Order: sequence, then C-alpha cells, then structure tokens
Amino acid sequence: MSNIGSYEERLQGFDWSIAERELGYRAGDVINIGYHCSDRICDLGHGGKLALLWEDHQGREKSFTFDDLRVLSNTIAAFLVRLGVQPGERVCLFMDRVPELYIGFLGVLKMGGIVQPLFSAFREDSLATRLKDAATSVVITQRKHLPVVRRTREQLSSVRQIVVVDSEGAQLKAGEVALDLEGEPRVEAFEVFPSTAETPSVLHYTSGTTGQPKGAQHVHYSLIAQYLTTKWVLDLQSDDIYWCNADPGWVTGTSYGIIGPWANGATQAVLDAGFSAPRWYAFLQKYRVTVWYSAPTAIRLLMREGTELVRNYDLSALRHLASVGEPLNAEAVLWSKEAFGRPFHDTYWQTETGCIVVTNVPGLPIKPGSMGKPFPGITAAVVDLKTSEPLDTPGSVGLIGIKPPWPSLIRGYWNNPTGYANKFKNGWYLTGDRASKDGDGYFWFVGRDDDVINTGGHLVGPFEIESALLEHPAVAESAAVATPDPTNMEVVKAFVALKAGHDGNEDLELEIMNFIRKRLSPLAMPQKIEFVASLPKTRSGKIMRRVLRAQEFGEPVGDISTMMDD
Ligand code: WTA
Repeated sequence: MSNIGSYEERLQGFDWSIAERELGYRAGDVINIGYHCSDRICDLGHGGKLALLWEDHQGREKSFTFDDLRVLSNTIAAFLVRLGVQPGERVCLFMDRVPELYIGFLGVLKMGGIVQPLFSAFREDSLATRLKDAATSVVITQRKHLPVVRRTREQLSSVRQIVVVDSEGAQLKAGEVALDLEGEPRVEAFEVFPSTAETPSVLHYTSGTTGQPKGAQHVHYSLIAQYLTTKWVLDLQSDDIYWCNADPGWVTGTSYGIIGPWANGATQAVLDAGFSAPRWYAFLQKYRVTVWYSAPTAIRLLMREGTELVRNYDLSALRHLASVGEPLNAEAVLWSKEAFGRPFHDTYWQTETGCIVVTNVPGLPIKPGSMGKPFPGITAAVVDLKTSEPLDTPGSVGLIGIKPPWPSLIRGYWNNPTGYANKFKNGWYLTGDRASKDGDGYFWFVGRDDDVINTGGHLVGPFEIESALLEHPAVAESAAVATPDPTNMEVVKAFVALKAGHDGNEDLELEIMNFIRKRLSPLAMPQKIEFVASLPKTRSGKIMRRVLRAQEFGEPVGDISTMMDD
C-alpha cells in the first residue's frame, strides 16, 4: 500500500496541517530543518538507523546513522559559531557529493545560517557572481576546489573564511581554516538556533533570461511541503533505500536529496561519481535501492546502453521510480517498464516552488508523456499567456500558474524584489512554463516561455553566457540559445559576431568554448558556435533570441512584429 493511498480521497479536505501534525509542529513553534532531519529522528527512537550510505568514484565507502548525522551536524554548527558566523549569514557549500556536504547543510541550518549550496563544477566567474550577490561570509570546500575559491575570493570582500574539509597536506593561508569532521571532538549537545516558519533557510541560485542568476530564498517552513511530497510522491517508507541522483547544488538535491528523505527518517544512498551505466546499475544492485529519483537525461543515457545491460544486474529491489527536470518523454516511460518492470513517474516543479507541484503520484494511472496532476494542496491551472485567466477548454496552451501560498514557495529573490513581484499576476504564481491540460485534468508540458536553456535538467541563463562571451577579446556581440540535443534535450549554442580583424575559424571556435568552460562551467559551455555578421534585434536593440532558437528547432519564428514593437 502506498503512503498516499487514494489520490482522490487525499484531495478531499486536504490541509497542510496533516504534515504539521506528523512533524509535531504547531503555528508559532520553533522549526529548524537541521533539527528535523537529525535530532528529531533520534528523538523518535531511530538514532541507530542508517541515514547515509556513501560511495565515491574510487569505491571508498562510508556510512552514517541518524545519530551520526545529529552529532556531526552539531560539530559543524559549533565550529561555525566558533568562527564567529552569525545567524542569517550566508555560508556556501562548494563541494563534490562528499558526506561533509550533506552534514554541513544540516549544520549551517542548525546554527541559524543561510545555506548556499553551489555546484562544484562552477569556475571563477560563476562562483563569484553568486557569492557576490549573496555577500557570502564563509565558503566550505575541498582541497581540490581551493584554487578556484582562492581566485574567486580575490574579487570579493565579503568572504571572511574558507573552510577546508580535507586539508591534510595543504598549505592553508590567512583566512583559511581546516575542518576535519572525523577528527574534531564530537559535539554531543548543541543548542539549535530557534528559527521559526519564516526564518530564511536555503538560498539556491537559478537562472532566468535577463540578468545574472537569481537567489531563490527559501524558509524553514518549506519543510512542511518537502516532507509530505517526499512521503506521498516518492512514497518513502521505513525500510526503503532511496537514491536521488541530483547534486545538492540544485534544488532537487536539497529538497529531495536531503530535507525530504531525512525528515521522513529514510535511509539514502549517495554516489559521488559521474555517470556510467554499469556503475549506476552496480550501485543500485549493491545497495538494493528500492526508490530511485532520477532525470530524463540520465534515463536517455541508460536507454542508449540498451536493456541487455540491465539484465546483468539484480535490480529486483527497485519498487518505485520518479523523474524530474525536463519533459519525460513517453518512450522513456515505456522503456523503463521494459527495462525495470516499472515506469518512471514524472514530477514537475521548480527551484521557486520548492516542492513537487504536478506529478504522477503512486496509484494514479500514468499517461506516458504527461506530467500528471497537481499534488493535493496545490492549485495549478493553465492560464492565458496575456491575461493570466485560467483556460478551461481542454488542450488550450497557456502558462502553468499556481495559486499562492503553499509552504515551500520561495519568499523572494535575494536583492531583487521586482524580479519576485513579476512572478505573480492576477493572483497566480507564474512558472514561465507552457503546458496544456486535458479533459481528465492531466498536465502536458509544452516548453518554456522564456530564453532559459534547459541542458540535461540544468537551467542555464543566456545572460551569464553572453556576458562571459563579451569578455573574450574577439567577440563583439553574441546570443546564447538552446539547440536540440538527443541526450541532453537542449545544449547551448552561441551566435557570435566578431570584432573587425578576427576570423571565425575552427581554432577560434574551440578557444571561445574553452574560455567559457574555464570561466563558468562545462554546462554553460556552448557546444556549438556559429559566427554571424550580425544578430537579429528589436527596434530598441534587444537581441531576439527567440528567432534564433526557433531556427534551431525548425519551428516557425512566430509573431516577430510584437517583438519588433518590444
Ligand atoms: C523544467 C528543477 C518538464 C521546467 C526541480 C521548470 C520540467 C524548470 C520538469 C525548473 C518536468 C522541471 N517536465 N519540464 N517534469 N521538471 N522542468 O528550477 O522548465 O532547476 O520550470 O528546478 O525545469 O528547473 P529548476
């Protein structure tokens, strides 16, 4: 029996207080995600239960119980307090998927800090943009990332300390300090910061079309929604072994890679290694993973390797599969039925929503290619692109709108109240995604309504890439747009107009690609560069990325006249 039972019954009289009651929370109480994910599970008598089964690319293994999580997150929290970190200060986690990342996340929240997890593949410019915007005080990192963090720090005044979790053999400089989690005296008791519902918790950077990435500001009360969606959508039960592929640099890796599963007292397995189909199957087999939360790009990569490979492994423990980040095509659902004997369940949501909002919950019949229906407690509609009025005729395409509030909606963008206000219209939070709804109430994803590039589930903003391109001495102007890709759905393509005297040849193409990779990240690196004499623009001089994008996808360019009016 699934946790949710009947979707229809759960819709009747749904109230988020169901989750509040289960978590022992009442309005006005202290609520701290760090506490709820560790101490509370111990208080319930499960301190000895395994919380984290960890393995890296070299096959090194570690495991931690909930009591270990409790004590080690105390240890990190106390360490940060000793460093002088104050509640409300931003502490960045810039690490691979090592245990310190997961435990550090809880530790920062326990001492009242705002945790800012960033993907460790970011290079200087991407890191600097985000640390600068958040005026981050402390960066917790690994020795291997120290050179990037050091170079970044030279551009910033806010970073007071760099904490290195594996400093052995490294020559630390002034303002750098070692934290050897297993060597530190274990802190048995720590007074958790008395955060309440609206106290800021996690700051996730996400890309939009205009401007640099925005800091999506979550609060501790998000736990209510993350806990219940994990329980009902991912269906975590007491004896499950759960694996979420996502890196905590992205919201999936925190909402459902830390907060949701641990608040439910679930055991999770983490693989700190890149993608390889045999490696992943071996991991699923070894830990007897029962619930797996993955993404369409990963599923497509697995599909490429065929079903034969799957037969070499015993994956009989798997009982529930879910996917997020990009449209889950019908073929992937059908393939997974064939390969694993069960379908992937699509889940749709965003950094801003904080929790799954439209999904195929267990038991709801899946229509392959559809995202499913709104989670109970979420009112979602397809709204008119211009008026934001709900469109009731089945099949009409509009924006996905969600009626605020719900517990995990972000409470703002850091330093950007206007950007946040612009997300709401006519009483709806507008996701910026286009979809339609069929006569049975199922949502069908159509595409994004902006110029953001979704590459393998990761959003990349054109502005950040174009700004970096302009720093290259040969580039006069540029436009970064999505181009179709069989595996990653989309990859970045840059249209570049060169300054006089530069020749758009293959060497320059490679040089520019590398330039972006070294400054931003491998994900933001254009996979293709097309040199052009000029770029299509509106009368007021804005680059019309949409025209270039439509060209890439072989779609009609649409109504250019409105864009010309700007
Ligand atoms: C896209 C990730 C189609 C969408 C949790 C959304 C999806 C953006 C799906 C958010 C899905 C996410 N089907 N598209 N099931 N899930 N997306 O903020 O465009 O990194 O707005 O959060 O990914 O990406 P974000």
